[in-house]
Amino acid sequence: MSVLTIGGIGCRELADRFGTPLCVYDEKKVIEQAGAAVKNFRSDMFDTEVAYASKAFSSVYLFRLLAAEGLGFDVVSGGELYGAMKAGVDMKKVYFHGNNKSDEEIEMALDAGVGYFVIDNVMECGRLVKLADARGRRVKALLRINPGISAHTHEYIMTSKPDSKFGIYIENREHIGQVIDELADSAGVELAGFHSHIGSQIVDVSSFEKALETMIGFLADMKRERGLDGMELSIGGGFGIKYVEADHPVSLGDMCADMISCAERAASEKGVKIAKLITEPGRAMVGEAGYMLYTIGDMKKSGDKNYIFVDGGMSDNIRPALYGAEYTAVLPERMDESPAVSYCVAGKNCESGDVIIADISLPEVKTGDLLAVLSTGAYGYSMASNYNRLGRPAVVFVRDGEARLVIKRETYADMYSLETEGRV
Ligand code: LLP
Repeated sequence: MSVLTIGGIGCRELADRFGTPLCVYDEKKVIEQAGAAVKNFRSDMFDTEVAYASKAFSSVYLFRLLAAEGLGFDVVSGGELYGAMKAGVDMKKVYFHGNNKSDEEIEMALDAGVGYFVIDNVMECGRLVKLADARGRRVKALLRINPGISAHTHEYIMTSKPDSKFGIYIENREHIGQVIDELADSAGVELAGFHSHIGSQIVDVSSFEKALETMIGFLADMKRERGLDGMELSIGGGFGIKYVEADHPVSLGDMCADMISCAERAASEKGVKIAKLITEPGRAMVGEAGYMLYTIGDMKKSGDKNYIFVDGGMSDNIRPALYGAEYTAVLPERMDESPAVSYCVAGKNCESGDVIIADISLPEVKTGDLLAVLSTGAYGYSMASNYNRLGRPAVVFVRDGEARLVIKRETYADMYSLETEGRV
């Protein structure tokens, strides 16, 4: 009988040892993605850095694993920064993103010695300069530019429309100029370069190339208008992965290689010098390495639908409800059986939209079967909630037949641990 193993361990053994629902990462796949990115994102013309966008999934263990592969990190909050600090990663390789960073977060990052702030807007720039100068800190900054490229992806994860909440629109030269002038006068904050990110789960290479060419054109403008040359440029992340059969993403390694040759070509054509090119993949680093293991409970027929209910749901994977995201799944203990029945996989959260897969053909399932939903490693656990007071799942990393518990399952007591006594 053919069964699904992850990192050399069968799913049943993982479920028996750690319980379900369970987030399982194939550690080797994560390392392979990191290696492919680092190897292919290299140039003879400029320095390069791959910074993992930790919002896709973060844990102290993953920070350490990727730091050992030479990666830097994108963090967007004090909470993500805290994890990176706890893991002891090199703070010089940390890029602190986020719109509306609080003063406390800015101070925390300055004190931690982060390498870069990615400035979102004019007001943030003013606050950062004041806080850095007051503390006598020196830090580099990238200014986030919205290049106005629309890529094909879900509207909620599209970040580069002209009215987007992120960055300063490329044609708003007044605000861009204000940031440049303010940083020119600051002793503490140095404008090292610019940043752009056009959205997430984008599979067409041409959108990324268009964004990169636009940003290098922008660097040429900055050279001509402002005398700025030899700047750093971050191209963000957003590389799509395979969720279902119909998805045909370009591999992360190939995408990185393509971005490098595109940047080299555009920089030569436009006569600009790039000091360093940075990319920030999140999803592509961990998405396909992650599996969500559920146990199938009750089943029922409702109208035309055959529901199978799993022991988690939208509280551990909000993506189908939020974005209409599609997933596929397998019965890990019955891999050689042919699909026979169409099912709707729903969770146990109290909401009609709590559907993980609207329609999937599987061998006829029985209560107690395991179900493995594929490609759940990005934005699954990291967007999990306690809706209906369901505890968040445990997370294990598996490699060469060894499973490591990285995050414990959340207990009822954990969930109520922040509450005060509540006597009436
Ligand atoms: N850099 C910046 C500035 C970003 O805003 C993001 C993602 C990334 C890098 C990483 O993008 P990735 O390589 O992971 O696509 N919750 C949504 C995705 C939101 C992405 C937000 N920013 C989802 O579940 O699809």
